[in-house]
Amino acid sequence: MLKVGLIGCGGMGNTHNKALKALSQNHEVAVVALADCRKDFLDKAKELWPEATTYSLGFDLIDTEELDAVHICLPSYLHTEHALRAMDKGVAVLIEKPVCITEKDCKRLMEAQNRTGVKVMVGQVLRFFEEYKYLKKVTDSQKYGKLQTIEMGRKGGDVLWGFEDWFHDEKKSGSVMLDLHVHDVDFLRYLLGVPSSLSVKADRLASGLINHVRTDYRFGDIPASAEALWDVSPDLPFEAYFIASFEQGTLEFSSRRKPTLAFKPKKGEILYPLTVMETEYQKEDTGLNIESLGPYYQEVKYFIGCLLKDLPIEQATLEDGVEAVRLVFYEQSLVDE
Ligand SMILES: NC(=O)c1ccc[n+]([C@@H]2O[C@H](COP(=O)([O-])OP(=O)(O)OC[C@H]3O[C@@H](n4cnc5c(N)ncnc54)[C@H](O)[C@@H]3O)[C@@H](O)[C@H]2O)c1
Repeated sequence: MLKVGLIGCGGMGNTHNKALKALSQNHEVAVVALADCRKDFLDKAKELWPEATTYSLGFDLIDTEELDAVHICLPSYLHTEHALRAMDKGVAVLIEKPVCITEKDCKRLMEAQNRTGVKVMVGQVLRFFEEYKYLKKVTDSQKYGKLQTIEMGRKGGDVLWGFEDWFHDEKKSGSVMLDLHVHDVDFLRYLLGVPSSLSVKADRLASGLINHVRTDYRFGDIPASAEALWDVSPDLPFEAYFIASFEQGTLEFSSRRKPTLAFKPKKGEILYPLTVMETEYQKEDTGLNIESLGPYYQEVKYFIGCLLKDLPIEQATLEDGVEAVRLVFYEQSLVDE
């Protein structure tokens, strides 16, 4: 039985917790320890694992328990210290994105992985969305011809739910650039490699916090863009989207439409690829509603699967997470000029 500790039981910790519970129905995995400094969140998480030992602090969980893996779902500024502590104990780590928020921490994490050989994965979850997987597949296979241009984005309302309002502190979250934009940056790197050039525009709130970014890239002859917004109002409904133009038509995704993915050919009828495709969700029966967890379930399943079968992590590796934040650091340096 794979023994897992969950550190941080807020918004994302709750999602990881449910994914682990669903996985435990048909995999040899259990959450044996939980940590959160807010008792109400800890108590809620414990409802899924009544036998789990609870801790107020993540460090105490790592120091006390003998675990196979920890999931780090803490505010972003706390990722590195907890990940290093677990890696030094030989415990595998799934770290939420952004993996860290400083260049110094990128180096410390990579050095720790080289030294310890511990398996580490970063929660760059777009790689586990059916729609983004389809985009990657048809780009690589050129099913609709060569990719011509791509526009990606993530827009949502003001982020009010964080512990001690950490999202609004640039030193803790890295602003919308490291929090939301890093998703598209990671995916563009995964899809197209390293950009050959880029330019950035960003806007700030009165407090000075960057809440809007738009970056235009060139990946060789392919123009691309990615935009991210934390709106001033909390009420703007969240939307993730991409518009990918291929030689034979345009693949369009919006998290706010049903079906979410459409292919609009130059000639002929609109196709809805995922409604006819057998999705990964449909193949499994855990007795729990895994469709609501969707890509998060797939992400956690991949991580746990690599540990159970002793396979290397090849998706959303520590290096992928580090290179994504490094590209964002570079973009930030252009904003600050
Ligand atoms: N992959 C995604 O789509 C996605 C979405 C949202 C957030 N995230 C990431 O997940 C991470 C957590 O975000 P969130 O929205 O859950 O934040 P959150 O503030 O809701 O949750 C963080 C939790 O950590 C707890 N905590 C703080 N310090 C602690 C400590 N020292 N020991 C134990 N617990 C402690 C807090 O009480 C809180 O419950 C962030 O890195 C964020 O960027 C990822």
